[in-house]
Amino acid sequence: MISPGDDPLPVPPPVDGRRMGQAEQHDSLAARNSRLTPGDLLTVRVRRSEVSAGGDVYQEFQVPYQKWMRVLDALNWIADNAAADLAFRWFCGSKMCGTCAVRMNGREVLACWEAVEPNMVIEPLRNLPVIRDLVVDRTRYEDKVASLEPWIERREPYAEFPEPLTHKQMEDASKALDCISCMCCYSACPVIGLGNLTDFAGPAPLVQLGQTALDPRNDPEKVRRSLELTGIFNCVSCYKCEEVCPAHIPIVSRVIEPLKAKAAQLAPEMARHSFALREIVASRGRVDPGALVLRVQGLRALSNLGRIWRLFVRGKINPVKTFLGTRTGAAEAAGRLLGNKAGKP
Ligand code: SF4
Ligand code: SF4
Ligand code: FES
Repeated sequence: MISPGDDPLPVPPPVDGRRMGQAEQHDSLAARNSRLTPGDLLTVRVRRSEVSAGGDVYQEFQVPYQKWMRVLDALNWIADNAAADLAFRWFCGSKMCGTCAVRMNGREVLACWEAVEPNMVIEPLRNLPVIRDLVVDRTRYEDKVASLEPWIERREPYAEFPEPLTHKQMEDASKALDCISCMCCYSACPVIGLGNLTDFAGPAPLVQLGQTALDPRNDPEKVRRSLELTGIFNCVSCYKCEEVCPAHIPIVSRVIEPLKAKAAQLAPEMARHSFALREIVASRGRVDPGALVLRVQGLRALSNLGRIWRLFVRGKINPVKTFLGTRTGAAEAAGRLLGNKAGKP
């Protein structure tokens, strides 16, 4: 207990939520650099495309540690001394061009920025075709970004110069402008991992679109056309993209959520699932999956009786409660909280 006159307790240093896991595991840059001494041998296993072996293989290398060594330095050492044909991509070496992203021990990192670890498994990014070894084909991303037409079309000519814009108006768009197109977020996104099951554009194309779609000067009609191509409501807000972004862009809170709000306003049909969920929770005080599917899909949902039966057996739906519109004790509070916001996802 603190008595009057005691020294106040020291204020703990601020915690960066995104680095909390690393700190708990003593996995900071300083910790990593201090547990290795120059000359120590790193064990580096690199995933390589081996057509002759009938598939990918992991090739192991012993790399001598040098002070401040990054993943890129280890790859360059391997290319110079052990495997001249190792394919990997990099240009700037300083977290600017975004070309060197790989997965290190299961996590997306920039090779030119990430400190080495004593044991490393290096793999190419996920969710993109591999050209060779660690080099991925970015065409899918580039085509998607081009289709979204991420530029500004103005309804009015310049009012004056400089533009009468406030910092607040540009807050979200300016966060998105920090993107270096490294594709770490795209590789980490579980919805992109579902492949063609959804039409989701993915976090990296959305960040590119956010640079202009969140700019107040852009024509809302043009923004609507672009947003309709994104499948943005497939994003499940899991924050995996944000956790790995080397540019520390608040991808979900400052780009995807504002874009969702814009889509709901400009193209309400895109947000019908979110609207329906809000209305059901507001009126019944609970998520009713049966009512949600009926509201979104209409009577089409009743055409697959086998699926309905399986969901019923597993307790996922309760048709009686759905058709009776059963309310829980939380309905009143939910209605108070959400009811007056109907129409907003
Ligand atoms: S928050 Fe959305 S975009 Fe980001 S990883 Fe999750 S599903 Fe993908
Ligand atoms: S948003 Fe971040 S992780 Fe995604 S491409 Fe841009 S810089 Fe890379
Ligand atoms: S080499 Fe350019 S970001 Fe890593």
